[in-house]
Amino acid sequence: MPRLHVNIDHVATVRQARRGVSPDPVAAAVLCELAGANGITIHLREDRRHIQDRDLRLLREIVRGVLNLEMALTDEMIGIALETRPDAVCIVPEKRQELTTEGGLDAAAHEKRLAAELPRLAEAGIATSVFVDPLPEPIEACARAGAQFVELHTGRYANAGGAEREAELQRLETAARYAHELGLRVNAGHGLDYDNVQPVAALPFVEELNIGHAIVARAVLVGLDAAVREMQDRILAAEPAEG
Ligand code: PXP
Repeated sequence: MPRLHVNIDHVATVRQARRGVSPDPVAAAVLCELAGANGITIHLREDRRHIQDRDLRLLREIVRGVLNLEMALTDEMIGIALETRPDAVCIVPEKRQELTTEGGLDAAAHEKRLAAELPRLAEAGIATSVFVDPLPEPIEACARAGAQFVELHTGRYANAGGAEREAELQRLETAARYAHELGLRVNAGHGLDYDNVQPVAALPFVEELNIGHAIVARAVLVGLDAAVREMQDRILAAEPAEG
C-alpha cells in the first residue's frame, strides 16, 4: 500500500491568518510522524502565503521520515532546494490567484528547463518529482527530462461523481501503468479525503499519497493524531488492484 505523506500547509494557513506563531507547522509535523505518517509535504509558495522559509529550515532538521518540498520551477526555489536539501522535491505549476494547485505542470512546455534543473537536484541527493495530469504527454516529457517520479494529479477524480469518477480512476490507472512502463516511479495526490482515498491507494505502482486539506480539516475537530491514524487505516485497508 502507498505511504502517507501529510501536507501541513494548512496548519500554516491558520497561523498566517494572524501572522502569529500558532499553530506551528513544525509541531504539527512531529505529531503527524508520531501518528504514523511516513513523510511531511510542504509547498513553499512564491508569495509565502502559508509555509515560510523558517518552517522549511526547521522541518529539515526535525522530520525523521521523508521531507517533500513542493515548489515552482524558478531560480529562487531551485536555489532554496539545493541549500536546504529536502529528501524530495515535487515541481508544481504556480499561479498567484489560485486557491490551490489547480492543474498539473505542462511538462512538455517546460521540458527544457526540467531537463536542466532536475539532474542538479538529483545530484544533490534530492528525489525529483513533477506534478502532472494523468495524461500521456506530460508523463512522456517527464521521462525525457529525467524525472525520477511523477505525482499524478487526482483532483479531477476527487471532484467527479458517479460514472465520471470511474472514468477518472481509469485514467489514473492507465497513467500509473504508462509512467511505470517509461521507467518513472509514481506518486499521487490532491483532493483526496477519507471517502475517496481507497480506490487511489489500490492503484498499481502508486508509492506515496500526498494528502493535506482533508487531514488538517478533520484535525480541527478530532485532533491531528486521530486524523492521521484514520487516514493511514483507510489506506492500509484498501484492496490492492491486480498488478
Ligand atoms: N500534491 C500536490 C502536488 C499539491 O500541490 C497539493 C496541494 O498543496 C497536494 C498534493 C495536497 O492536496 P490536498 O490539500 O487537496 O490534499
